Amino acid sequence: MCGIVGYIGSRNCVPIILEGLRRLEYRGYDSAGIAVLRDGAFFIRKNAGKVADLANALGRENGTLTAEVGMGHTRWATHGEPNDVNAHPHWDQHQQVAIVHNGIVENYMAIKTKLLRDGHTFLGGTDTEVLAHLIGVMFEECGDLTAAVRGALREVDGTYGIVVISPKAPDKMVVARKGSPLLIGVGDGENYVASDASAIVAHTRKVVYLDDGEIAEITRHRVRTMTIDDVTVEKQVQQITLELTQIERGGFEHFMLKEIHEQPETILNAMRGRLMVDEGDVRLGGLQNTIGKLLSARRIVLTACGTSWHAALVGEYMLEQIARVPAEVEYASEFRYRDPIVNIDDVVLLISQSGETADTLSALREAKSKGATVLGIVNVVGSSIARESHGGVYVHAGPEIGVASTKAFTSQLTVLALLTILLARARGMTRERGVVLAKELATLPEKVAQVLQNTQVFRDIAEEFKHCHNALYLGRGANFPVALEGALKLKEISYIHAEGYPAAEMKHGPIALIDKNMPVVVIVPKDGIYEKVMSNIQEVRARRGRIIAVANEDDTDIDQLAEFVIRVPRTYGFFGPILNIIPLQLLAYYIAVARGTNVDQPRNLAKSVTVE
Ligand code: G6P
Repeated sequence: MCGIVGYIGSRNCVPIILEGLRRLEYRGYDSAGIAVLRDGAFFIRKNAGKVADLANALGRENGTLTAEVGMGHTRWATHGEPNDVNAHPHWDQHQQVAIVHNGIVENYMAIKTKLLRDGHTFLGGTDTEVLAHLIGVMFEECGDLTAAVRGALREVDGTYGIVVISPKAPDKMVVARKGSPLLIGVGDGENYVASDASAIVAHTRKVVYLDDGEIAEITRHRVRTMTIDDVTVEKQVQQITLELTQIERGGFEHFMLKEIHEQPETILNAMRGRLMVDEGDVRLGGLQNTIGKLLSARRIVLTACGTSWHAALVGEYMLEQIARVPAEVEYASEFRYRDPIVNIDDVVLLISQSGETADTLSALREAKSKGATVLGIVNVVGSSIARESHGGVYVHAGPEIGVASTKAFTSQLTVLALLTILLARARGMTRERGVVLAKELATLPEKVAQVLQNTQVFRDIAEEFKHCHNALYLGRGANFPVALEGALKLKEISYIHAEGYPAAEMKHGPIALIDKNMPVVVIVPKDGIYEKVMSNIQEVRARRGRIIAVANEDDTDIDQLAEFVIRVPRTYGFFGPILNIIPLQLLAYYIAVARGTNVDQPRNLAKSVTVE
């Protein structure tokens, strides 16, 4: 979703801002812009399209643009279409302040109506332009940019991460956060601001994370953090551990392919120091303070969005069937608005790669307000969900740049498997059984590496099916959510319509869609319901559907029925999803490449959805 980068110092900020924006491209956006202070005035350029278009335009118009204070933005449209006018930065009526903004001003219509009555004119349809005008009015009144931002934000309902600059206050940037992440990069005689550490990690590792409700006044040598009521807040400078190599492609054609291939290592990282194979048990440090609550929980409610929601569905199978803990899964966006019945003896488990998804964060707050224990399974360290949870487990997948989530998903599943073993042992599972499960889990990185060895089959299937319009994905048990996730991957990056279904449910509707053009991807491991799934495959065949099977290495029967067979090693049933999703990620990837779509930044999607 939207990205912010800003700089104040003595170097030329233009290349710093453009480079920062490039690093934020992965979040998904549809327009980009930059504002710098030069010769006592603004220089602003913005356009629909990519950061490269912005850089080209700047090069053409003003190859020698230099400035020491400036900010840039990538916008993912919410209010107003993604065109040049609606792109950020925005400015006020008299061009005294410029602003970049992540989030949504919910009461912008009321503010706009009042400003229109006072004679203001607006160029576009965004909520941000209204906020710029409001700050401008206050600035004219009080002459202090920081006070003007504080005053304007008092009138705003909604969420924001903002940076404001003014040629009338050329030695500062004023930034504020409520609901949209913002961090300040601390340098030597220079300071940065960004919505995401990756934008500034090339320059500094020292950061201050702003909390909700905080405002900061940033000069070259000083950062002053305060509340909206001007009470100074002392903040700690923290060290970020992110490495530049982690956010670069490292020889792969796309981030998504790199991240798919990282999975043997990221799955191992999720288990490292946590899985005690010889004891058949698990230790999760982040749950230390809440373990009592977890063990006595009446039920566990798992809630999330997108791919993380699919991980939650797999988690439900694991927790109920292995640990015998009642579990329920709910979309975070639904959970928060239906006044859910949540009690103090419930544990609500939030799953999120970014830790910033607005709906998931709101679900956390809803559950917390009702007295539940809230735990997070999160990838991004220090993110809002991680910080607001009572406890949790980091998945340690490293930065995920491809918009379509891959390695974060398998790491989430690995952590859910760990949690399941921990709970199962605490609830009476024998050590012997624990050892069997732990040993099997420990083999998964190696087995995933095997699946990744031969990618030719995916290229062949992609060639065959790249022009199809629809696809069906079928699975049963814990592989049903894998079918959902496989279909989601295909939709997200290839724009082919795809649906996931429980294999047996197919005959209650989707079977009507099957004809000789319909690819049907079936996950059919040799487990307790293998024969049932084989019958479902026969039903597809009888209607001339084209079967692509994800099957075990030793399954010879499947060759008779499927047009393509993708082989995966055998594993214990509930760990199967960690292996079976890998071919579906690769399938989506190679089909998207064959169709020539933008794999890492698919249209309309955002990496981290920080608005409702
Ligand atoms: C967006 C992303 C998805 C992701 C979902 C939830 O839609 O494009 O890949 O699964 O948000 O994000 P989270 O960061 O909470 O896991």
